Amino acid sequence: MRKMIIAGNWKMNKDIKETFEFLLPLKNNLIGQNLSVEVVVCPPFTSLFVAFEILKETGIKLGAQNMFYEVEGAFTGEISPKMLKSVKCEYVILGHSERRRYFGETDEFVNRKVKRAIEFDLKPIVCVGETLEERERGDTFKVLEKQVRGVLDGLTYDEMSKVVIAYEPVWAIGTGRNATPEQAQEAQKFIRELVAGLFNRDVALNLTIQYGGSVTPENAYSLLSQPDVDGALVGGASLKVDSFLKIIKAGETALIEKRN
Ligand code: 13P
Repeated sequence: MRKMIIAGNWKMNKDIKETFEFLLPLKNNLIGQNLSVEVVVCPPFTSLFVAFEILKETGIKLGAQNMFYEVEGAFTGEISPKMLKSVKCEYVILGHSERRRYFGETDEFVNRKVKRAIEFDLKPIVCVGETLEERERGDTFKVLEKQVRGVLDGLTYDEMSKVVIAYEPVWAIGTGRNATPEQAQEAQKFIRELVAGLFNRDVALNLTIQYGGSVTPENAYSLLSQPDVDGALVGGASLKVDSFLKIIKAGETALIEKRN
C-alpha cells in the first residue's frame, strides 16, 4: 500500500524563532495521534538543525528544499546530501519549479541530484508540472512526459522505490488557483501510467504522487480523495499551524476512506 504524504514546503520563510513558534504547537497537536499519513516539514536550511531537535521522536519527518549532488568541496553556497543526513533529513525536495525558473535547473541536473540523494538514503520529492502556456497549448502530457523521463533517467527499480513525485502545475503555485480534483487526477494518473511503462506496474502502484499548488484546508479533501493523489506538497498554507493541521486531517480522512 502506498503512503500518503502531507509535506509543508516553507520556501524562504521562517527564521529560528518562527520555526520554534510553528513546530512546538504542531508537535503538541500531533503527538499521540497515531496518524496513517506521513507528515513532513521542509524548513529552510538554517532551521533544519533546530527542527531536528524539536521533532526527534515525534514521527514528524524532516525534509530539505534542495541540495547539490556533490558530497563536499569547493561549491560555495551549496549544501550536500551528507550535510542533510547529519541533521536527520529523510526527504529532499528536488526540481521545484522555483528552482527551475529562478536558478535554471534542468531535468538533467535534477536527475543527478535524485541519484545522489538516493545514494545517501534521502527520499527525493521530485517536482514536475506544466506552465499555463503549455497547458493552454495542449502540451501538458508532452511536458510531463519529458520531465518525468528526464528526472528519472537511469534509475533502477530499487532506486525508483525511494522516489516521491510531486505534480505541481506552475500556474497553480502561489496563485490561489488550484488544479481541479479532475485535472490533478488526470495528470497524476498519466504520470503513474508513464512510470509503469518506464519501470513496472508494481513500482508505479507503490509510487506516492503528491499534488501541489494552492492547496488549502478548503480544497484539500477533494484533491486528496482522488485515486491517484497520494498527498500534498503545501506552500503558503503550510506556514500556519492551524491550516497545516486541517490539511493533515483532510489527508487522514481521505486515506482511511481509500483503504476501506
Ligand atoms: P502554494 O501552496 O503556496 O501554492 O505552493 C505550492 C508549492 O510550490 C509547494 O512546493
